[in-house]
Amino acid sequence: MEVIIENSAASTCTLAARFIAKVIREKPDAVVGFATGETTRLLYRELARMHIEDGLDFSQVHSFNLDEFVGLKESDTGSYRGYMQKHLFSKININSANIYFPDVLASDIPRACADYEEKIATLGGIDVQVLGIGVEGHIGFNEPTSSLVSRTRIKTLAHRTIQELAKNFPASSEVPSQVLTMGVGTIMEAEKVVLLATGQEKAEIIRKTI
Ligand code: F6R
Repeated sequence: MEVIIENSAASTCTLAARFIAKVIREKPDAVVGFATGETTRLLYRELARMHIEDGLDFSQVHSFNLDEFVGLKESDTGSYRGYMQKHLFSKININSANIYFPDVLASDIPRACADYEEKIATLGGIDVQVLGIGVEGHIGFNEPTSSLVSRTRIKTLAHRTIQELAKNFPASSEVPSQVLTMGVGTIMEAEKVVLLATGQEKAEIIRKTI
């Protein structure tokens, strides 16, 4: 593990974007795991800039998002598919057939979670996984006490996480209480993991995590 401390959120995200771009340039059909949230917005802005100005090519990249709210469609407020479309996918040349999310509308959720794991495995595993971290320590939506060998599954959000997410919804009562998330085991199988944390409110959890 390498801990890199930067002076600003912008330089943190620029560094992370360079790291991800290097993986894609070395392996044009790389499998990239994406996170959503405030922290990653600047990362996606930089990756989009690299595509437009430096020709970073996403045409063969496969993407797997960490998590999504059960029952939300892309057009629903707060949907992570909607977030990714807005902040990254609409700005780069990724093939829409290569974009994967856990199927939060499936009638058989355990089957949908198993299919997600299988799809990742079929493509050879995740080459680089982007992560943020919640103030209480979640990665993806693996809240504290999640098993280190957990796989993609349904999880109920912690009260504090729902409060944190309320800013993306009309009211905290409208934050879906359940999500599908890759497990800690799924994440730890990625070849490389880049965890980004910016802002003073993340300092304490980063100290504890390290
Ligand atoms: C979202 C996700 C979460 C966020 C974390 C930090 O896909 O997996 O673990 O990365 O909650 O969110 P921000 O960046 O909004 O502080």
